[in-house]
Amino acid sequence: MKAEEDSGASAKAFEVCKSPSSAKVAECENGPRLTPYAYTTVLLAAVGGLLFGYDIGVIGGCLTLDGFRSEMGWPPAIEECGPDSAPEPKQVSFEQGWITSAFMFGCFVASPFAGYFSDRFGRWAAVMLGTFVFFVGGALQTGANGVGLMIAGRAVSGLSIGVLSTVVPLYIAEVSPASLRGTLVTLQQLGITFGILVAFLFNLFVQKVIPRDWDWRVSLGFQCFIALLMGVGMLFMPESPRYLAWRGRVAEAKAVLRKLRGEGQESLLSMEILEMEKEVAETKSQNSTWSELFSRKLALTMLVGIFIPTVSQFSGINAIMLYSATIFNNMCLSGITMTAIVGVVNFLFTFVAVFFSDRCGRKPLLLTGASGMVAGLVASAAILWTVDYSENKNAANAIVFLIMFFIANYASTWGAVASWIIPSEVFPIRVRGKAIGLATMGNWAANVIVAFLTPILIRPDVANVSGTFFFYASFLIIAIPFVVCLVPETKGVPLEEMEEKFSKPLGQHVRSSIADLRRRPAAADTGLPK
Ligand code: BGC
Repeated sequence: MKAEEDSGASAKAFEVCKSPSSAKVAECENGPRLTPYAYTTVLLAAVGGLLFGYDIGVIGGCLTLDGFRSEMGWPPAIEECGPDSAPEPKQVSFEQGWITSAFMFGCFVASPFAGYFSDRFGRWAAVMLGTFVFFVGGALQTGANGVGLMIAGRAVSGLSIGVLSTVVPLYIAEVSPASLRGTLVTLQQLGITFGILVAFLFNLFVQKVIPRDWDWRVSLGFQCFIALLMGVGMLFMPESPRYLAWRGRVAEAKAVLRKLRGEGQESLLSMEILEMEKEVAETKSQNSTWSELFSRKLALTMLVGIFIPTVSQFSGINAIMLYSATIFNNMCLSGITMTAIVGVVNFLFTFVAVFFSDRCGRKPLLLTGASGMVAGLVASAAILWTVDYSENKNAANAIVFLIMFFIANYASTWGAVASWIIPSEVFPIRVRGKAIGLATMGNWAANVIVAFLTPILIRPDVANVSGTFFFYASFLIIAIPFVVCLVPETKGVPLEEMEEKFSKPLGQHVRSSIADLRRRPAAADTGLPK
């Protein structure tokens, strides 16, 4: 990635250096430099991803803690384990579904408004609002004295993440030079997986160090602390220069950019300002209507851009992220410890996506990832279904390995590629804002369904964990031919040419998508050094 950044950066510098109006200066050789102020801005905003991950990761462990259960009015967690263990009372499974999915539901409701709010009041104000609402949601969860307040707190946190998960990547992209933007999409996923990991580890720490009735309140309260740090830090951070320019506040935009890039980069800075002004003029001239999104012309693009992130959720990844403590407890293992290991695997394998998404292309990653996930889910489901894993240690170890294998496959492929990269690049520029909004809503709707259904599905009297895994594997099995036939390779395709990729008649589109798999792009197309 570093090499890619370097090559992108020097390409830009070269443009300035060869321009007749620019003198040859040292900065042209080195490419854009960021000041510590710019790094702090980006890192602080990326904490938005961490908050997102924390809220996904923290709740599963709490559902198994006795103090939490008694506050919710539930009986202590089922002590028995193994395939024949007694199920949770039905009411408890439903309430667990409501508590976890309320967060996703909040995201679903707020995400369509995030774009409007950040255009109207600015990116900085949207990040601040998101952080403040997150603090309130976290505080409600921490102080909850029953299921009702807990659901309300989760929903409020969800509203905040609906805003933050949309605005943070936009804000980061707008304060960064173009040559660094490519890495930002994966930064979002790294933030999320890091947040999930922190939550899993924190749950483990809390359970081991303060096993009291209120231990879960410490886990849930910790998110308020992170939000507070982010909010206070953001007070010192600037509004996005691109947003300022878009609102006609050009002098302020230039001053912010100067502060972000530092002294001694005048040529690159003038180039960036020119580009920014050009981009703003282009964005202002692009008008699109909602009906255009549903036109025949965009049908294939919309299908791919919405189906892929939605299936990414129906892979069942959050069945594990949200309920792995319960699933592993049922396998007679320490749920909270195993969950912490899930977090480590999920985080570490995200680096594989960071490294490979621009090297191997989206399609090979989606296909290897889906095949690996199907293998992991089907094989573990088959063992869970046929072997008494509470008696057979080898079977239990094999299941653990297969679940980790599933997570590693998701994290290294679909996590970043399907959830964020595909929706950010397939839609034509003029409809991108609205179309991404729809894709995000599809993603969250699928999330709500998975979060709500899973605790009910895993009950031994419904589908059991094995049936649940088969259920989620079936979506991936459908996704494999879909990716082969309908998803073109989008790596290295300039965003302006994307529309052409999707504009062939169906038969031709399928043939060319299949051909994309065999085509090895030239090094020049990859944006990587030859
Ligand atoms: C998904 C989340 C999921 C996370 C797991 C993200 O791409 O959008 O729903 O929890 O990956 O790492």
